[in-house]
Amino acid sequence: MQPGPDLQTVAIYAPVARRLVQVEERLRQVCQTDIADLNPLLDYALASGGKRVRPALTLLAAEFYEHPQERSLIMASAVELLHLATLIHDDTVDNAGMRRGKPTINKIYGNHVAVLLGDYLFATSATFVCDTGVVRVIRRFSETIMELASGQLIEFFTTFEPSKARRLYDERIYRKTASLFRTSAESGAILSGAPESQVAALRQYGYNIGMAFQIVDDLLDVQGEASEIGKPVGNDLLQGVLTLPAIMLMERYPNDHSIDKLFAAIQAGDASVPELLQHSIDMISESGIITDCFAVIRGYCADASEALDTLPDCAPRRSLTQMVDYIRERTR
Ligand code: IPE
Ligand code: IPE
Ligand code: MG
Ligand code: MG
Repeated sequence: MQPGPDLQTVAIYAPVARRLVQVEERLRQVCQTDIADLNPLLDYALASGGKRVRPALTLLAAEFYEHPQERSLIMASAVELLHLATLIHDDTVDNAGMRRGKPTINKIYGNHVAVLLGDYLFATSATFVCDTGVVRVIRRFSETIMELASGQLIEFFTTFEPSKARRLYDERIYRKTASLFRTSAESGAILSGAPESQVAALRQYGYNIGMAFQIVDDLLDVQGEASEIGKPVGNDLLQGVLTLPAIMLMERYPNDHSIDKLFAAIQAGDASVPELLQHSIDMISESGIITDCFAVIRGYCADASEALDTLPDCAPRRSLTQMVDYIRERTR
């Protein structure tokens, strides 16, 4: 996996490239604490790349109106820190050993350290948002943390539960992923002093690309390359997490989809797990379900593009339009 944004994102981020470098500087400062044991952990977590989609979104959303640009810079740093904290906790909960092409914090240092480091980063992100001084944004950010955590809880309580998984899928992916995309875009708009109608448009845009982003992520888990996405593939099903492709498989073949057998084998610790997993993944690939998932993704992408129609035509809007295509087609 590339360490950070790739060529395509570099082009999309161009209007805010200089400011994204400033975000990186802020993130580096977070690694310089008075606590010697903490600094290498922070260095490891923060210097490990990532696409930086969420801070780019905040900065692009702010770019339509803003002149003094300090507040959106702080906010962009905060959304990446919050994202990073959720990744560290998510990998701990998901038992994942690889992230951004490198061993996870939980793998190297254990769950205990991962929980505490995640907490530290959550709290750090909150101090950044407080520095914006805007209560509306502080409240929205706090609500986002609640949505993230409750989304992950819904996920936990629906593992190995096919009937609950379908009903709660949209709610779960909104909470665990689209909420932060929404907040990244919305807060950039609010902090730049955009009119309410445009705050609403950017909120809608963020929500829709966030939903699309998670469904693409769910597809990459069944058909991506671990070396490219920098994280394990097949891990959702192995953890009992039913994502859209798996849910569609069960709906299409209610009596013959092999996921029930896979789940029974996982829970019994049976040696047939790898073979059953591969069988389920093959069925998903061969059944036209990927195309059906892309139809859902395209629906969210169309709504995201439509939300941009009311915004002035300028370089940041063109970048947000390209970001929709990037999210739909991304392979990592
Ligand atoms: C991964 O997010 C977690 C999800 C919400 C699917 P990203 O794919 O943005 O992760 P990085 O920051 O680029 O590593
Ligand atoms: C993203 O869901 C949840 C977060 C909010 C981090 P996933 O569990 O699918 O994310 P990845 O695939 O591990 O990045
Ligand atoms: Mg995960
Ligand atoms: Mg995933």
